[in-house]
Amino acid sequence: MTAHSATLALDEAVRARLNEGEDVLHLGFGEAGLPVAPELIEVLADAGRHNGYGPVAGAPQARAAAAGWFTRRGLATEPEQILFAPGSKPLLFALLAAVEGDVVLPCPAWVSYAAQSALLGRRVIWVPVSSEAGGVPDPERLTQALRRSSSSGARPGVLILTVPDNPTGTVAPPEQVEAVCAIADRHGLAVISDEIYSELCHRGAAPSPARYLPERTVVTTGLSKSLALGGWRIGYARTPLGGWGRRVHEELIGVASEIWSSLAAPMQAVADHVLGDPPEITARIAASRRLHARVATAVHARLTAAGALCRPPQAGFYLYPDFARRCEFLRSQGILTGTDLAATLLDRYGVATLPGRAFGEPDTALTLRLATSLLYGTTRRECERALAVEEPENLPWIAASLTRLGDAVEAVVGAHHRS
Ligand SMILES: Cc1ncc(COP(=O)(O)O)c(C=O)c1O
Repeated sequence: MTAHSATLALDEAVRARLNEGEDVLHLGFGEAGLPVAPELIEVLADAGRHNGYGPVAGAPQARAAAAGWFTRRGLATEPEQILFAPGSKPLLFALLAAVEGDVVLPCPAWVSYAAQSALLGRRVIWVPVSSEAGGVPDPERLTQALRRSSSSGARPGVLILTVPDNPTGTVAPPEQVEAVCAIADRHGLAVISDEIYSELCHRGAAPSPARYLPERTVVTTGLSKSLALGGWRIGYARTPLGGWGRRVHEELIGVASEIWSSLAAPMQAVADHVLGDPPEITARIAASRRLHARVATAVHARLTAAGALCRPPQAGFYLYPDFARRCEFLRSQGILTGTDLAATLLDRYGVATLPGRAFGEPDTALTLRLATSLLYGTTRRECERALAVEEPENLPWIAASLTRLGDAVEAVVGAHHRS
């Protein structure tokens, strides 16, 4: 049986508690936590009359807009390389179906890659990330794992990279991405580069693997995170030029044509508008990026004050603290696993997080993934205010959540007790 995705299951459980009147601080779900940009509501309303299925890969205008969007970001792209889908999650599944071989994943990695691989009957080869950044396996350990896996009968065929990363909220440095792409090339692996957080780098731009392995990297992305449009389900892929890329594109069209037919036409109109980079949208994304960076940084300070090891946030709205240094105190409290730690935070303090186990780590790892994006407010007004001010972490409702979170974590891990 395929289990309910850990992130979606936790979100539903937390929302049920909230509906019952419980006061839960929700750090368990990777939703961007912001209202729809007002002009997009008008674009969507105007597009409501488009009711045809349209071409599987997307309407020519939307595909041209996506090609322009990639090209302006330094990856020259033709419209024929683009395929739209109802979110990048089904696109990733279709890609895994289209590309042969077992799946190499960084550990930790976003929850759905391993679950989708299992649905397709593929083995997963986990390779730890470096202490510096997540989303990309440590190059040396990748080489060792590939050597070991071939001798154990696995057939590694595809490597998934997440740049920038969920769950660690970091961006792998270009040298590391380049080194990993060179290894993938030597071993004949395809690369799927999940770049759904690329617009949310707190500083600079993320290094796309498509620069280093252009002929065998497929990029997936979408509007769920940059514009908080998760529920509108807009995703798109860029397949490479050349024979391999064309074959993958054809396969994708085949899978898409049998599963979702096409992205909803009104959503393609939204994509067409957004991917032209109009100034209001660019400004909205810049404001969101700043808000994510400020709040994630404020949460990071509280986690490290409580004794966690935690990579500083570089993109998006995630943190991945490791409480191994508090293991003695935690053991004395009967907390032996990441799952125990997350359960204690939720049951005793109403703080919802996910344990590292959901991301491929052994449960003995005392790691948690925190999404900081649902701290911005509970009303549209609060969230718009958080987007507008210089120091959102000082708004009373955000400051109160930060204090509550810091106090809860300190209490659970015994930050004031000597380990
Ligand atoms: C790394 C990563 N990839 C893909 C997705 C899926 O996004 P969507 O299907 O909304 O495009 C998410 C959403 O949480 C994510 O964090």
